[in-house]
Amino acid sequence: MFYDIFTRPLSRRCFLAGGAKGLAAACLGAVFGPITKALAASSPDVRFVRQIVATDNRTARTIMWQSAHEQRSAAVEWRRPRAKEIQSVAATSAPFSDDGHASFQHTACLTGLPAAERLEYRIVERRKIATDWYPLTLDNGQTCQMIIMPDSQSTDGYVTWRRVAWGAAIRNPRADLWVNLGDLVDNGEDFQQWDDWFTALDGIAEHLAFVPVLGNHETYDRNWTIRWPQAFLGYFSGVPGNGDSAFPGTYFSFDYGPVHFIVLNTQWEEFDSLRPGLFAEQRAWLRRDAAASQKPWKIVLMHKDIIEADLPPQNELSDTGRRLMPLFDELPIDAVLTGHNHTYRRRAPLKNFRRDPKGILYICTGVAGDCRYYDIPRSVYDEILAPQPETDNYLTLDATEETLTFRCFLASGILIDEFTLRRAASPPPAAS
Ligand SMILES: [Fe+2]
Ligand SMILES: [Fe+2]
Repeated sequence: MFYDIFTRPLSRRCFLAGGAKGLAAACLGAVFGPITKALAASSPDVRFVRQIVATDNRTARTIMWQSAHEQRSAAVEWRRPRAKEIQSVAATSAPFSDDGHASFQHTACLTGLPAAERLEYRIVERRKIATDWYPLTLDNGQTCQMIIMPDSQSTDGYVTWRRVAWGAAIRNPRADLWVNLGDLVDNGEDFQQWDDWFTALDGIAEHLAFVPVLGNHETYDRNWTIRWPQAFLGYFSGVPGNGDSAFPGTYFSFDYGPVHFIVLNTQWEEFDSLRPGLFAEQRAWLRRDAAASQKPWKIVLMHKDIIEADLPPQNELSDTGRRLMPLFDELPIDAVLTGHNHTYRRRAPLKNFRRDPKGILYICTGVAGDCRYYDIPRSVYDEILAPQPETDNYLTLDATEETLTFRCFLASGILIDEFTLRRAASPPPAAS
């Protein structure tokens, strides 16, 4: 066990990588830290209000929040902006306890919403208004703008994470949704880290549909041994279902604009010691799910990268890459976004494990917390790297039926990479 100067336990990896640079980042973060929370929930017992993506975001959205006390009659109200007519949807209330802290997690599934409209919602409890009205933007079915956040695990009270997340949100006011690609927190059992992570997002999470991706750090207990990721699954229990009773909430898919997004759980190594069978179950589901989608684009969001940058041998394909890349070729998938390695790398298009202009776009998305890894070698697949040594970054995706444009920015907002995938022209009809 390692401890930093704030006496928070550190993972071995973060301890080794952080050092003086981590302290400098924490000090810098403190300067930018006090960001307004004017839009935070207005009831003291409604915390961490968050939108979660639904399967079909044209007509549905899931709202979750946390309270210290049970709220049996809680509901979510929605309306067209400033309209007098208000609809109400009852919420479920589930007791949740972890790391010695008890709370209630509330979930309201809003379905049958007027397609593609801009709405507002608020939370009520015992017919008393508990929050302000928050915007709820539904999928227009044509376009999609996503903010993509890499690993946010931190050791500085999530000050760095708050600075990166808010910078991205402020610079992208028209974003439809956002994703965090796993390792949201450094220790998945640490109550304080989850509290800090959510607190940093007061004013963002209420406004944008969130896509949670499970990382390996969500499976660590306070002794840094593997455990079931019950905190992650409790906080994000409202994700779309996958029909898998053994691994619910750990992988799923949804549509937004012209894209079918597939969220995978790459933690089969961790899960196999607790509940075997994840890889086979997920592979069968992935084939069914991808085949059923008619969307123009398919994008995979997953935590572990296709390159091994953690343990020797470095710079070679990881178990994740060796197992999943042939599947992605088979389906096929258009783009794969990963995390885990804490470095931004856009790879050459790959097919059959080789560079191929018609191959799949793979992007390792970088780092958005203060756990920075240094001296990760360049793999034979890497085309574009973030400036070294690595700092923080985020990405955006702008999707239309014809194009997918990925942009990578440093935390300061400086653009460091841009790449557009264009849909291949359809072959001309055969002469009759
Ligand atoms: Fe990580
Ligand atoms: Fe990781």
